[in-house]
Amino acid sequence: MACSRLNPVFNLAKQQARQMMIKRAATIGIDWPQEVANLCARGGEMAFSPQWDAELAAIANPSLTYPDYYLRPFHAYEQGNLSWEAATEVEVAAHAVHARIWPDAGAQGDARLRQSYHAVVQAQVSQPPQEILDLGCSVGMSTLALQGVYPQARVTGVDLSPYFLAIAHYRCQQQQTQATWIHAPAEATGLPTAQFDLVSACLLYHELPQSAAIAILQEARRLLRPGGYLTIMDMNPGSAVYAQMPPYILTLLKSTEPYLDEYFALDLEAEIVEAGFLPPTVTANSVRHRTVIAQVPPL
Ligand SMILES: C[S@@+](CC[C@H](N)C(=O)[O-])C[C@H]1O[C@@H](n2cnc3c(N)ncnc32)[C@H](O)[C@@H]1O
Repeated sequence: MACSRLNPVFNLAKQQARQMMIKRAATIGIDWPQEVANLCARGGEMAFSPQWDAELAAIANPSLTYPDYYLRPFHAYEQGNLSWEAATEVEVAAHAVHARIWPDAGAQGDARLRQSYHAVVQAQVSQPPQEILDLGCSVGMSTLALQGVYPQARVTGVDLSPYFLAIAHYRCQQQQTQATWIHAPAEATGLPTAQFDLVSACLLYHELPQSAAIAILQEARRLLRPGGYLTIMDMNPGSAVYAQMPPYILTLLKSTEPYLDEYFALDLEAEIVEAGFLPPTVTANSVRHRTVIAQVPPL
């Protein structure tokens, strides 16, 4: 097992990785504790607004069975993605993690990463999609960013964490945007066949064991209309950044990402073709990210 709860080296690495992120947030002007406190309070008097639990109850699918691979610690959280602590820290963590992709980006790094992804998508997807599905939508950062690029489209976000989805719903209300949030595994969404023009998986694949990654390709194929597009943006296993990363930093990274080795070893392009798509294009959209785009054969 790459990252064991019983392995003290990995446990130490996890704590260090977390502290590194909090410090990095401060260097780009993000007050991590304050941002999290604001979100928890929802602008109210109480430190943790009771509305969050109501929101959670409304969005959670009580009959969902979580896949075992999802119930492991992720990102230095013992409960993985299934806690308020993880959910309320997603946004600040994303800003910290993406701050250094471009040396001058700082707090704009996350937005710039998403723009670089969408630029590749817009260059290759000829018709603006009307129905968009965001798999592994988390707290809605990727979903709402896609909505910004395609304002005429209906967007749906699917995620396994009801805590993350509750925050997505809140952000969506704040921005007065319409989106549908579904608590389901991306490999079995329960959504109708051929409903979507574009299925996006942004920063999802590095969090998946290979069996789930392949099952999600098959589900995306089912959900897309003829001629529709699957777009995947994630870490680029071929990037020199990872090849040249000091072993200690790579250990830190793997301590918070239990399926990174499986992701790096997956032949994604071959599996995409195996799932019934046309051969994909692969475009580097940052020094360490790639965008993979595959079309369902048109009728
Ligand atoms: C790193 S986050 C990426 C979030 C978001 N797309 C973004 O770009 O900010 C990965 C997300 O995938 C979700 N996830 C992981 N496995 C999943 C699965 N099998 N089905 C649905 N969601 C999943 C996690 O809960 C998490 O919210």
